[in-house]
Formats: sequence, C-alpha cells, structure tokens
Amino acid sequence: MNLYQSLLRPLLFQCDAEWTHETTLRACHWLAKSGWLRERVRSHHAFDDPRLACSVAGLAFPNPVGIPAGFDKDAHAGLMLEALGYGFVEAGSVSRDPSPGNPARPRVFRVPADEGLMVFYGVPSEGAVAVAQRAASTRPRVPFGISLVEANIGRMSPIEDVLKQFTDTARIFTGRADYLQLNINCPNTTGGESPLDDPAHLALLLAGLREVENLPPVFLKITPFRTPAAIEAILAVVDPYAFIKGFVLNTEAPKPYAGLNTPLEVLRKMPGTLCGPIRRKPVDDAVSAWYRRIDRARHAIIAAGGTSSAADAYRRIRLGASLVGVLTALVYRGPGVVRDIKEGLCRLIERDGFATICEAVGVDTPRAR
Ligand SMILES: Cc1cc2nc3c(=O)[nH]c(=O)nc-3n(C[C@H](O)[C@H](O)[C@H](O)COP(=O)(O)O)c2cc1C
Repeated sequence: MNLYQSLLRPLLFQCDAEWTHETTLRACHWLAKSGWLRERVRSHHAFDDPRLACSVAGLAFPNPVGIPAGFDKDAHAGLMLEALGYGFVEAGSVSRDPSPGNPARPRVFRVPADEGLMVFYGVPSEGAVAVAQRAASTRPRVPFGISLVEANIGRMSPIEDVLKQFTDTARIFTGRADYLQLNINCPNTTGGESPLDDPAHLALLLAGLREVENLPPVFLKITPFRTPAAIEAILAVVDPYAFIKGFVLNTEAPKPYAGLNTPLEVLRKMPGTLCGPIRRKPVDDAVSAWYRRIDRARHAIIAAGGTSSAADAYRRIRLGASLVGVLTALVYRGPGVVRDIKEGLCRLIERDGFATICEAVGVDTPRAR
C-alpha cells in the first residue's frame, strides 16, 4: 500500500464521490498554475522511456497510457495530468450547449469491494465554447483529445439535431485539440440509446464532419460489444472517411453483473454503468474482435475500461490496442498508478524481447480470414 492508499484515499472516500471528483479537478487546475509545483509533481512521477513512445494517427505519444474522457470533463486538469505522466489526455465529453447532466443525485458511486465506480453523470458539460476557452490555458503538451457528445435531454433527440450538434462542436474545437473522440453511444443518456446506433445515421454524421475545415484525427467511441457483422457494418460506414483514425473500445460488462464481491442488491440501488476491473474481459474480447478486422495500417484501437496494472495494459496492447485509458484505477490506486504501469510495461517488453512497445501491438491477435 502506498501513501495515497493508506492515508489519502480513506479520507477522500469519506466524502461524497462527485464532490471529491470536482474538488480534485479544481485543485489540479489551481495547483498546476504554479510551474514550480508542476515540475515537482513531474519529477516525482517521471518515468520516461523512449521504448514506450508511439505514433498513432500521426500524433507522437510519449507513452501509451492516457486518461480517457470523463475524468476531466471541462478541461480543468490537463497540465496536472500531463505532470502525472499520462501519455495523452482526453477531456470531455463536451456537448455543444451547456448541459447539467442527469438531475438525480448522487450520480457517481464508489464500489470499493470491486475497485469500481458506478457512473450515472449523464454527461454534464459546461458547453463547448466555455471548455474550449479554458483548454486554451490548460492544454497539455502530450496529445490532447476532446470527446464530443450530444446534449443529454433525457430522451432521444431527432437525428438532424444530433448531427448539427456534433459538427458545430467539432468546428469549435478545430485547432484547439489534437484529436476528437466521438462519444456516439453514451450509456448514461437516453438509457444508452442513440440515433447514431443506426449505421445510416453514423454515415450522415461522418459526411457532415467531412465538411469541417481543418478537422483533426477522429476516433469513434463504441460502447456496446459488437458482433463480427456489426463490426463489419461500422467499418464499411467509416471506410470512405480518412479522418477516422480508430476506435475507442469501452465495452460494458453484461448485466446482471456476475462474479463481484459487492452484493447484487447493493449494486441494484445504484443507477448507471460500472467502470473498473469488471470491464477487463469484455474490453479484452472487444479489442481482439476489432483488431482482427480493422485495416491495421489505417485504424488504431484505444482500449478504455478496466486497466489497473501493467499486466492489464500489456495484455490489451498484445491483443491489438495501441493506447490504453486508465481512469477508475487512478481513484483506487492513486496518481502513482501511471508510473507503475509504465515501469511494468518496460519490464514486460524487455521480458518478451521487444525493442519498443509498438512491436507488441496485436501479437496475440491473428488477422481474420
Ligand atoms: C466518472 C466517470 C465519468 C465518465 N464520463 C465519460 C464521458 O463523459 N465520456 C466518455 O466518453 N466516457 C466517460 N467515461 C468512461 C471512461 O472514459 C472509460 O471509458 C471508462 O471509465 C472505463 O475505463 P476505466 O475502467 O479505466 O475507468 C466515464 C467514466 C467514469 C469512471
């Protein structure tokens, strides 16, 4: 147990989870204003090894371990997250218009016996203009992504409206982010249903985005597990669009949750979707299923869900992920988790005789016939 786990975490876990989340972000924002403090944090957490550097979508990542969307929704903490050693920072999800998210409280729950977080935020966002303005001063030097989402209005929005929201938001962030992530099926809005589930609608969205000038590389965040046929359908839709550089796989664990330490009756009282180690197997399966089918020269995979150790990250990389997101483990293991994972990755590639982490990508997943 490190100092965070033995001392700070028990204190933080006494407080409301959403309050803790917000307060942490605000603290990161203010503390990062001091270059001196940022340097102290950086030197404490520094672990840079050129073997972990990778190029994805034409962007140079110092290491493959990033913070996925949801931690820093309104782009407060990019500089501090970079100082902690994350190799990329994804802010958001951001909707074009300000949105309060789900009205019910609480809307994020700790599930400590399973190192999980039950999330029912419903994508609150300060709105694209406010977030873009803040990001101008908080943008890290590592690749900086913005996750875009439709505003949560508690029911399915008409498709024309959703398309316009996405393209308007993309325009606001061109030149202000290194890549965009389209959160096209957020499980916390409209009960997980999105008009973009329909591949024909997704095609309309991509056609609209093609008209956006100076569009950065775009990743699609696909939430539910997809069958081979469904994967092929999405790949066919994205095929004409060179700006789509890959997929963020964030597969949910099937419900009712099985094999957990937390009693089901406790979980049933919490709305939302469970993040953390419960997602290991579904995300592993999704990475493998997608990597089998993608054009590897063209598309990359970001695995988001259930990475809490170097072994998890490495397994995903060997299955086909070029990058991995680590969020829930930050809450349970503390800020040292990023360094631990990076150090562990170096040991693992050395053990297996790879010169760089890139050489390990996909070695465990053969191409589909
Ligand atoms: C508190 C919280 C809020 C999240 N909010 C978002 C979000 O706004 N947009 C998004 O694309 N994903 C969101 N996610 C999902 C994460 O990006 C990631 O896919 C998921 O947490 C699984 O990774 P983990 O197990 O490392 O947490 C959220 C996750 C958590 C825990």
